[in-house]
Amino acid sequence: PNGLLTDTLARPLHDLRISVTDRCNFRCVYCMPKDVFDKDYAFLPHTSLLSFEEITRLAGIFVAHGVEKIRLTGGEPLLRKNIEKLVAMLRALKTPDGRDLDLTLTTNGSLLAKKAQALKDAGLNRVTVSLDALDEATFQRMNDVDFPVADVLRGIDAAHRAGLGPIKINMVVKRGWNEQEILPMASHFKGTPYILRFIEYMDVGASNGWRMDEVIPSADVVRRISALMPLQAIEANCTGETAARWRYVDGGGEIGVISSVTQAFCHACNRARLSTEGKLYTCLFATGGHDLRALLRSGRSDAEISSAVAHLWRARSDRYSELRSEKTAELGSAVKKVEMSYIGG
Ligand code: GTP
Ligand code: 5AD
Ligand code: SF4
Ligand code: SF4
Repeated sequence: PNGLLTDTLARPLHDLRISVTDRCNFRCVYCMPKDVFDKDYAFLPHTSLLSFEEITRLAGIFVAHGVEKIRLTGGEPLLRKNIEKLVAMLRALKTPDGRDLDLTLTTNGSLLAKKAQALKDAGLNRVTVSLDALDEATFQRMNDVDFPVADVLRGIDAAHRAGLGPIKINMVVKRGWNEQEILPMASHFKGTPYILRFIEYMDVGASNGWRMDEVIPSADVVRRISALMPLQAIEANCTGETAARWRYVDGGGEIGVISSVTQAFCHACNRARLSTEGKLYTCLFATGGHDLRALLRSGRSDAEISSAVAHLWRARSDRYSELRSEKTAELGSAVKKVEMSYIGG
């Protein structure tokens, strides 16, 4: 293996997003709506989940192929028992030329106050926290459980104190639901070390009932904020970044906008996704994955799994979001896509 693995559109394999559980203690309306993810919903049984050893073994194979950044996701990754043990195991992996990985995690923040220090001690670099509103009623309407927003804010502070920064805050914007929180969120995080990112509501999965008219284009978000607190576009940190960056002209820090609906970024997409039960997805909107767990559990060697991964990446041609914009909204509901809580965002 070497760092030169590229797909049919010349995109390298750079990020690996690993979902460690399909469960979550929130029921965000855009991700795990309560009427679908109810008490009868069949979550994966424990034996289906990849063990920490299996995850680490696969991650090592991806790292040998050029992956430099690993993000743990879910569901809610902090619900996975002893997650800090997995962090420590992944921390021990090195790039082929001996560098440390960028190791991060996306969380809803509910358990962060409790877990931040242990995660830092295990070697996690930073966290991204989802937060859709500061107003309690709006926050709870978005996540559909009675979880106090103050606890998430405490989690964010704990992560900051533990040194898990720079911390990014993800706000999914849904028209008619939390758009009135755009300005309060922007002012709240302006001038803090936290980087707030506004995310266009996406047509992931098959259960959120996505409609184009509920998407607020990022250009609108930037316009609304900039009218009061002027913004200026800045350069991306690295190629393939999901967010476009904007800085406050007065020096109050930066924000990001993730515009996968109105400004698809497939052309530079370097992300592979490993589902909770060990399927490899080469796109967030894929309808199917490739069963790596079957290879692990049937006794294949690292070399065999490695060549299977290389083969899959070389054959990759996914660019769902770009195709969606070409065909507008129809695609959204036509195909049976995998749920985000299963594939891990
Ligand atoms: P950073 O590396 O910290 O910038 O994180 P990230 O933006 O790559 O990941 P995060 O988990 O914070 O995801 C932010 C939003 O971008 C979520 O809504 C994700 O679902 C979305 N996202 C991440 N990767 C992709 C992708 O490859 N395609 C699309 N369409 N959306 C993505
Ligand atoms: N559209 C956009 N973002 C979403 N997320 C979950 N579902 C959606 C959706 N339908 C976000 C979460 C989290 C990140 C991993 O993905 O809020 O911040
Ligand atoms: Fe849970 Fe995150 Fe999905 Fe909300 S967006 S239901 S917190 S996994
Ligand atoms: Fe990558 Fe698929 Fe997202 Fe496009 S839609 S950026 S190919 S994950």
